[in-house]
Amino acid sequence: MFKALVVNKDDDSGKTSAAVQELSLADLPDGEVTVAVEYSTVNYKDGLCIGPGGGLVRKYPHVPGIDFAGTVEASSDDRYKPGDRVVLTGWRVGEAHWGGYSQKANVKADWLVPLPEGLDTRAAMAVGTAGFTAMLAVMALEDHGMAKNHGPVLVTGAAGGVGSVATAILANLGYEVAAVTGRPETADYLTALGATRIVAREELNETVKRPLESENWAGCVDAVGGAMLARVLGQMKYGASVAAVGLAGGAALPATVIPFLLRGVNLLGIDSVMQPYDNRVRAWKRVASDLPMDKLEAMVHPATLADLPQLGADILNGQVKGRVVVDVNA
Ligand SMILES: NC(=O)c1ccc[n+]([C@@H]2O[C@H](COP(=O)([O-])OP(=O)(O)OC[C@H]3O[C@@H](n4cnc5c(N)ncnc54)[C@H](OP(=O)(O)O)[C@@H]3O)[C@@H](O)[C@H]2O)c1
Repeated sequence: MFKALVVNKDDDSGKTSAAVQELSLADLPDGEVTVAVEYSTVNYKDGLCIGPGGGLVRKYPHVPGIDFAGTVEASSDDRYKPGDRVVLTGWRVGEAHWGGYSQKANVKADWLVPLPEGLDTRAAMAVGTAGFTAMLAVMALEDHGMAKNHGPVLVTGAAGGVGSVATAILANLGYEVAAVTGRPETADYLTALGATRIVAREELNETVKRPLESENWAGCVDAVGGAMLARVLGQMKYGASVAAVGLAGGAALPATVIPFLLRGVNLLGIDSVMQPYDNRVRAWKRVASDLPMDKLEAMVHPATLADLPQLGADILNGQVKGRVVVDVNA
C-alpha cells in the first residue's frame, strides 16, 4: 500500500474533492516503468487538476501532479533499471494520466529523462516544470542570438515559478535582469535571485496606442502574455526575441505586427509538454550547470501531500511565490 492525493467528482453536484488516500499497486494504470516517487511540485495546471479540473482531467478518480522525480523500482524497458534516478515533466501526466502526487507511479519509458549529474530528485522538483520551461525559454533566446552585451533582459511574472528560475539562470549567466512583478514585497527576493532592476507590473500591464516605444530589452522571458506581452513587443531592441511561456495575465494578444516588421522582433513559442527528448536532456543538463543551487534553495517552500488542496487554490489565486517542493513521503 502507498499514499496518493486522489481527486473524486460527485456525479450529481459535479463538485470535486481531493484527499490523501491509501492505494495498492493494482490501482495504478499500466506503464512500462514503476517509479518510487520522491518529490513533486505545484504548477498552475496542478491547481486546476486538484480543484475544478479545468477541462484537463479526463476521468475520476484522478491522481494529479504534472511532474515528479524519483527512483526506478521496476522497468520492462531496457533504457531503465531499478535504482536509476529519473524526472518526468509534461506528456499530459497529471492531467490525462495519473501523476506525481503519489508515492508510486507507472509511466511510459519515453516520458522519463535520466537525472543529470549534480541534480538530485529534490532539486529536480525545486526546478520542476516551471524551471525546466524557464530553461527552454533561455535556450531559445540564446539560439536566436541573445547576448550579454546587447542590454537588459526582461522577465515578466518574475516572482512566480517560471519567472524566479528564469531570473536566477539569466543572472548567473551574466545577464542584466529586469524583473516585472505585481508584488512589491517580493523585491528583496528577486534582487537576491540576481535581478538588478524591479519593474512594477502597472508600468507594463496596459497597452498603449503607439506600436513602438523606446528600445529597452535585449530579450524577454514572458510568463504573463496578454496586454503585457503586447506592450513588451513594442519595447524590444532591434532583432531581439521574446520567449512566450505563459498566460498568467491572459491569453489574448492585443498587439500589432509593427514590431515584427520594423524592428525584426521575434516571438518564440515555448512548449514544455511535447518537447522532444533530445532537447529535454539538453535542458536538464543546462539546469544542472547554469542554475546556482543556493539560489534555487532560496525559492523553495516545502510541502506534503496533505498541503496540496490548499496550495492548489493558492496557485490559482496567484499567491504562490517561487517553487513549492512536495515531499510525497513526508
Ligand atoms: N509553455 C509551457 O510549457 C508552460 C510550462 C509551465 C508554465 N506555463 C505557464 O506559465 C505561466 C507561469 O507559470 P508559473 O508556474 O510561473 O506560475 P505562477 O508561479 O503562478 O507565476 C505566475 C506569475 O505571473 C504573475 N501574474 C499573475 N497574474 C498576473 C496578471 N493578471 N497580470 C500580470 N502578471 C500576473 C505573478 O507574478 P508577480 O507576482 O511577480 O507579478 C505570478 O507569480 C502560467 O501561465 C503557466 O500556465 C507554461
